[in-house]
Amino acid sequence: MIDHKELIAELLALRQRIREGEHGERVEPQHKRGKLSARERLDLLLDEGTFQEIDAYRLHRQSGFGLEEKRIPGDGVVAGFGKINGRVVCVYSQDFTVLGGSFSEVQGQKVSKVIDLALDAGVPIIGIMDSVGARIQEGVYSLAAYSELFWRNTQASGVVPQISVMVGPCAGGSVYSPGLTDFIIMTEGISQMFVTGPKVIEAVTREHVDKQTLGSAQVHGTRSGVAHFVAADERQAFALTRQLLSYLPSNYAEMPPATEPKDDPWRQDETLDTIVPTDPTEAYDMHQVIERIFDLGSFLPVHQRFATNAIVGFARLHGQVVGVIANQPAVKAGVLDIDSADKIARFIRFCDAFNVPLISLIDTPGFMPGVMQEHGGIIRHGAKIVYAYSEATVPKIAVILRKAYGGAYIVMSSKYIRTDLVFAWPTAEIAVMGAEGAVNILYARELKAAEDPQAEREKYIAQYRQKFGRPYYAAASGHIDEILVPHETRPRLIAALELLKNKRAQTRPKKHGNIPL
Ligand code: HXC
Repeated sequence: MIDHKELIAELLALRQRIREGEHGERVEPQHKRGKLSARERLDLLLDEGTFQEIDAYRLHRQSGFGLEEKRIPGDGVVAGFGKINGRVVCVYSQDFTVLGGSFSEVQGQKVSKVIDLALDAGVPIIGIMDSVGARIQEGVYSLAAYSELFWRNTQASGVVPQISVMVGPCAGGSVYSPGLTDFIIMTEGISQMFVTGPKVIEAVTREHVDKQTLGSAQVHGTRSGVAHFVAADERQAFALTRQLLSYLPSNYAEMPPATEPKDDPWRQDETLDTIVPTDPTEAYDMHQVIERIFDLGSFLPVHQRFATNAIVGFARLHGQVVGVIANQPAVKAGVLDIDSADKIARFIRFCDAFNVPLISLIDTPGFMPGVMQEHGGIIRHGAKIVYAYSEATVPKIAVILRKAYGGAYIVMSSKYIRTDLVFAWPTAEIAVMGAEGAVNILYARELKAAEDPQAEREKYIAQYRQKFGRPYYAAASGHIDEILVPHETRPRLIAALELLKNKRAQTRPKKHGNIPL
């Protein structure tokens, strides 16, 4: 009869073999590719010694194409749960050294299991992606496994935060799992995401494809907007994941984690008073404003290099997490266009789903004029901003720094779409349009008839600016709530946030809305 000691020794030996399999012959090939192993990645992501593995012994049951010889315990993914900064998360890490990390029936079942656990436990789910895609040898079993994953990603959306860390290839339909999650962190040099590979694109479209850039972190971080963050290497990717999680609640029913405030709530930076140029055509960098208002060093930009005419990201105000949405006058004058609309709307919807209050800093001349934008669907995309702000029930506070013209004034968190408090700086211009454009329309006949049209134009512009180039007309009618000396903004926002802390807004009963996609 086998005794307990032997039973335990057998288990420990098997466990050791599973880990050594990876730490032995399966680590080397990864390192040769300039990549870390699946378990090394978990070590970097999680608090030391917290990883609890599940399904380490799973074996696939498929045959043919030599699969019988490749029954490796765990089958291409390491899954389980652990802690990040003391908070529990569910994780899975694809193991490229087992059949290229190909997505199999078993990998699908393991990943589905940890997502289900994450949903039941109300904790975030983090996928570390390094895989060649569907396991070809398994045919429909691998496709079914992917379908189960996509379905779960969709079910989990808005329930727990989902983060995808891309540290290898991700091709074909498999891109839709990260594509369904809240945040994608790509790693330069080693991660690639595309639906159709270069050879197929070249064969079908006959266009030349640059294999280095197709689906690269660079392209997705700057042009497509698929990647929310781009890390220089794997270490940075996992550090970023940990940092991002520090702003997020574990699930939709919790508040984001507050920290002990380190920065003075009364800090009033007087350089803010002169930061906005009085010449409306002169640019300034909105990042300088953000730095001076929010807790020092707390701003984490999202989509930092995509649609840079808008800025979105997480920050803290007196230790409380907030979502910052801002126009960037230093890029295209802060105009709203198709990409910035998508960037802003998506961020608002994430914040609203996870109880992150919104603070909007506004200086935009409006929507980008142009045939490309019109034909590209600026109506459909721009509508997303107004939809997202209108739908959001979290505390909403706006500060109009300078230009808030026309439709852009309305969509960018105006009072009418139920922004709780709208502040303005003395430089705020709230008008249907800018002075030059308005004068050209209103006084076309007078200007044509004038002896000195230029002098006449300037006179009308001055009159227009007198009325709309300051915030007092809007304040007199209650369309804004208060005018702030810019250096007061930080304490005023902290007070407003405190007021709205327990805000509860109900939405009308419905199945779900129909956001213009
Ligand atoms: C099973 C696969 C595989 C696959 C590669 N391998 N692709 N095994 N199913 N789909 C195996 C290889 O035979 C090899 O095994 C190991 O994985 C590593 O692959 P390599 O090609 O040697 O790696 P590398 O040179 O780094 O190239 C990686 C790659 C390339 C660029 C990703 O493998 C590639 O282009 N693969 C096709 C990617 C793709 O188009 N995937 C989409 C599939 S369709 P050995 O034993 O030699 O180590 C899809 C649809 C999903 O995913 C639909 C969801 C609804």
